[in-house]
Amino acid sequence: MINNGDSSQNKPFSMYEIISRKRDGGIISREEIEFFINGYVNGIIPDYQASALLMAVFFKGLNPGELTALTEVMLQSGDRISLDGVSGKKIDKHSTGGVGDKVSFVVSPLVAACGVKVPMLSGRGLGHTGGTLDKLESIPGFQVFLQSDKFKQVLEDVGMVICGQTDNLVPADKKLYALRDATATVNSIPLITSSIMSKKLALGTQGIVLDVKTGKGAFMKNLDDSIKLCETLVLTGESSGRRTVGLITNMDQPLGQAVGNSLEIIESIEALKGNGPADLMEVTFAIGAYMLIAAGVASKYRDARVMLENALESGAALEVFKKFIKAQGGDPEVCSNYQNFPGAGHRIPFLAKSGGYIHEIDALEVGLAAIDLGAGRRKKEDPINYGTGFGFQKKIGDPVEVGETIAIIHTDNREVADRVSVKLEKAVKISREKIEAPELILYIVDKDGVKDWSGSDLNPR
Ligand code: URA
Repeated sequence: MINNGDSSQNKPFSMYEIISRKRDGGIISREEIEFFINGYVNGIIPDYQASALLMAVFFKGLNPGELTALTEVMLQSGDRISLDGVSGKKIDKHSTGGVGDKVSFVVSPLVAACGVKVPMLSGRGLGHTGGTLDKLESIPGFQVFLQSDKFKQVLEDVGMVICGQTDNLVPADKKLYALRDATATVNSIPLITSSIMSKKLALGTQGIVLDVKTGKGAFMKNLDDSIKLCETLVLTGESSGRRTVGLITNMDQPLGQAVGNSLEIIESIEALKGNGPADLMEVTFAIGAYMLIAAGVASKYRDARVMLENALESGAALEVFKKFIKAQGGDPEVCSNYQNFPGAGHRIPFLAKSGGYIHEIDALEVGLAAIDLGAGRRKKEDPINYGTGFGFQKKIGDPVEVGETIAIIHTDNREVADRVSVKLEKAVKISREKIEAPELILYIVDKDGVKDWSGSDLNPR
């Protein structure tokens, strides 16, 4: 037998054969996928063969059967969190990530106040996008890592819990993601889907509502790719027996006004007090309504929305959020006293150099500028400066006069703020021509297909 460098010789399958078949557009079986994933996690299959297979998948894709098999096999590579002992329906929410995206902090207590449990496993900032765990850690004392018993207890007692992933939850994804990152194979719809859904399915919920962001500040910049990703995520969730719905939402400009860790938590608390910015509330109510529908506590969009509005107006959702902070070791007093959050030394206004209308606030550039302020990390080990970031006072479509404040820069360092202002000059475009605010929710995707949000009776307005 010729030794072609195949580490899997004398094993039931040959990696060489699996790679070459996928390279030529063929199909790989569940058993072969198991052989690959288990072999890679156990260190038997080397990086060079795993990389070659990832690249073949990048170019040739996976059919729905292969994708379901890959997701399920990845899921089986580690621990799962069974929620069997926790009462009631449990629904998860996932965002593909954006700038100023604080929907989880508002929607989870709203949905929990309506009697549906919301368990979430979240991550840290990735590139220009902020991380849920980093934002929560701006609350003094807040613990983002919980043992699984504590996770379930907080969920049972409070109705919501947000926690970081343990090392043994889908270890196949940890190893594969690092390899994808180094081999330019991150941006593949089947690989993103298996990565996201294996982690979602590790948590025993009945349904998942996805917020797939599209636009400049999103992972997927192009609308067609975002729709395809959303359809693939929904199909994979449904094939694994979870009610799965996805909304495609605009991420050309930051969501809400605040960008930065403690600033975003403060904006979320204000939202729970009824003072949330319109765009944040629009996405929050839409996601929340589909979480209630997925749980079966409402059957129509309008009914679900009324339930959420009542939970907001009665103050019940704010009470859930305070209980959640306390249960995870934080100081709930922050909800009435924002001085208890880490703040920044200086607040410097960023002013309009010309008058007209705001045409663009490039979310990617804003996210990168937030990293310069210390609100995000360049390297994994970098510390976060929790109090820094931006407070935007204008959104796309707003009129603006010369010298008017567009945003407040929260910084500890005036020199950095000067550099950041130059970046904001590029991110924010003003034009004489009037422009409408962009549509925020574009499509809804469920097991029956893709529907236009604005043209359908699903539109809340
Ligand atoms: N988020 C994930 O968890 N996985 C990906 O592949 C991309 C984004």
